[in-house]
Amino acid sequence: MESPVPWEEAPPFPSLPENQVQVWQTALPQTDEQAASFLPLLSPDETERTGRFLVTRSRAAFAGARGTLRLLLGAYLDSDPRQLRFCYNPQGKPALEDHDLCFNLSHSRGLALYAFSRRLPLGVDVECLRPAAASAQIARRFFSPREVAALEDMSPDRHTEAFFTCWTRKEAYLKARGEGLSLGLRRFAVSLDGPARLLDTDEGEAETRRWRLCALSPRPGYVGALCAAAGDWELRCFYR
Ligand SMILES: CC(C)(COP(=O)(O)OP(=O)(O)OC[C@H]1O[C@@H](n2cnc3c(N)ncnc32)[C@H](O)[C@@H]1OP(=O)(O)O)[C@@H](O)C(=O)NCCC(=O)NCCS
Repeated sequence: MESPVPWEEAPPFPSLPENQVQVWQTALPQTDEQAASFLPLLSPDETERTGRFLVTRSRAAFAGARGTLRLLLGAYLDSDPRQLRFCYNPQGKPALEDHDLCFNLSHSRGLALYAFSRRLPLGVDVECLRPAAASAQIARRFFSPREVAALEDMSPDRHTEAFFTCWTRKEAYLKARGEGLSLGLRRFAVSLDGPARLLDTDEGEAETRRWRLCALSPRPGYVGALCAAAGDWELRCFYR
């Protein structure tokens, strides 16, 4: 069985070769004090968005994730993180306005993942394992019939992890395409355990072959997935 790529300590000077996809994980700030050092990095619209979060933990997480994203992009591009400008597709996927470096990020309960490639479209997702959220009712609403059947075949002790594995693989694919939920969650199926695979889509074989999914295991209690355009690339994972 394919095991998730191990996490390495972050290099002091990050660089992103053409043949790599890199994923980083960071713990997110939980309080306004912890988030304070990220605020000067943010653009006016990000600062305004930060102020709109009513829940302290969400506000700190947003500022921490955007700030860290800017620091990592700045390091790769050898640019001032504050000068980077983002634009958004109609479904809200951020991209760099003046560079073709691709990125995506996800956060859940204090943890963030950031994925980067030189040119390959990609999406990343992380979820904290929450047994109460992994109900059969939610699975039937969001998962395809093939995924629901696979989930029902799982032994009860593996149910929560399989549910969130499915969830993150689906989200990573949606986020790589950038279309969000508008794509239709029941129109494609992913594997729920073992190697991460896009199993089928109603757009045919060519679409299935266009993407590569990878399982991410950032820390106990969380699962994640990366989806990027298929190709001869290597995945490296870093923590800091
Ligand atoms: C917005 C969405 C892309 C992801 O939302 P999410 O899982 O709640 O949040 P995540 O933390 O994984 O990702 C959010 C980040 O993705 C990025 N993002 C936003 N819209 C995006 C899009 N259309 N495509 C790719 N990335 C997007 C942003 O950077 C955003 O973070 P930020 O605004 O704080 O910078 C979208 O798929 C969604 O609304 N999902 C709802 C959850 C759901 O029902 N999932 C069903 C899975 S089976």
